[in-house]
Amino acid sequence: MEEQIVGGQWQRRHVLTLSDFTDLEYEMAIQTAASFREVLTRRNRKVPALQGKVVANLFFEPSTRTRNSFELASKRLSADTVNFSPGHSSLSKGETILDTARTFWAMGTDLMIIRHRQAGVPQAIAREMDRMSQGKVGILNAGDGQHAHPTQALLDLFALCTHLNSADPHPKLLAGKKILIVGDILHSRVARSNIWSLKAAGADLHLVGPPTLLPKTFATYGVPLHWQLDDALPGTDFIMTLRLQQERMEGHLLPSLREYHQQYGMTRDRLQRCHPNVKILHPGPVNRGVELSSDLMEDAALSLIEQQVTSGVAVRMALLYLMGGGRLPD
Ligand code: NCD
Repeated sequence: MEEQIVGGQWQRRHVLTLSDFTDLEYEMAIQTAASFREVLTRRNRKVPALQGKVVANLFFEPSTRTRNSFELASKRLSADTVNFSPGHSSLSKGETILDTARTFWAMGTDLMIIRHRQAGVPQAIAREMDRMSQGKVGILNAGDGQHAHPTQALLDLFALCTHLNSADPHPKLLAGKKILIVGDILHSRVARSNIWSLKAAGADLHLVGPPTLLPKTFATYGVPLHWQLDDALPGTDFIMTLRLQQERMEGHLLPSLREYHQQYGMTRDRLQRCHPNVKILHPGPVNRGVELSSDLMEDAALSLIEQQVTSGVAVRMALLYLMGGGRLPD
C-alpha cells in the first residue's frame, strides 16, 4: 500500500480551497483514497496511520454526511477524535470562534476540521493556528458559507474516476467528459469547489440553472452557462444536481418548487436525451421530487449518490493521512 501512496511529497498544511490545487495534489489525493478504499473492504478496516494524533471536528453549522464521514475517517486511521457542536459549547457563553480553536489547540489537537456558515472562518483559524503553533496544526475546510467545500469536490472527483476505472482511478479519466452542474449554483460552495477540480481534470464542464440562481458573473470561471436545462442535455455523461439552499435564499428567487422541478428537475425523460450511460450525482441532502424525482435517486443503474457517500470516507482518510504526516507500518 505504501508504495502506491508515496511518489510525491505532500506539502500543503491546510486544505481550505481547491482554487490553487496542483495536478500532483489531485493525483495524490485520488491515489491515496484508492488505497484506503481497499483498506475499507478488509475485515479489519482500521490502520494505525494517525495513532496518537488528535483530530477535532469543529462544526459550527449542522451536518450529517460530512461530519460523520470525517469522524469515521479519523477513527479508521486510529486518531483520537474530539467533537464540538455550538449548542453544547461555551460559544453560548460568549466565547469567540478563535478562542474555541485555541482551546482545542491547547488540548494538543493536530488537525482541525471546520464547518461554518460564514465564508473565511477556516482561513481565519488557519492563520491563528500558524501564528500560535508554528505550523504544527493543519486545518481542513468542511464547508464555509458559499465559498468552498473542498472535500466534497474531491469525493465527487473520486466517485467519478472510480466509476470510470475502479482498478486505476485517475483525474484525467474525466478529460473531455461532458458534465453538467445543475441548480442552485449561486449559493453552492459545492459547485464552486467542483468547478476547480473538474476544470483541472479537463472535463467539458457546463453550468445550468435559473437566471436568479446562476448569474452571468459565473462566466468568469470560463465555462459555458445555460439557463435552459433541455438545451444542455445532449451528449452529457454526468449530471451533478445541487440542493436548493432555501436557508440561504433571501427574497423570492424561485416561483415555486413545482415550477423548478418542471424546468430543472431530473427525470427519466430528460436522461433519455443524454449520453446512454449518463449517471446522476447529488451531494445530499436531497429535496426529493425537486432536484430529482424520487425513483431516480434509488435507481442504482442511474445514480452514483451512494458511491459519493462511500467515497467520502476514503477521500477524507486520504487527506487526514496526507496532512497529518501519517505513517503506515512496514
Ligand atoms: C453540502 C453542504 O453542506 O454544502 N452537503 C454536504 O456537505 N453533503 C450541500 C448542501 O447542503 O446542499
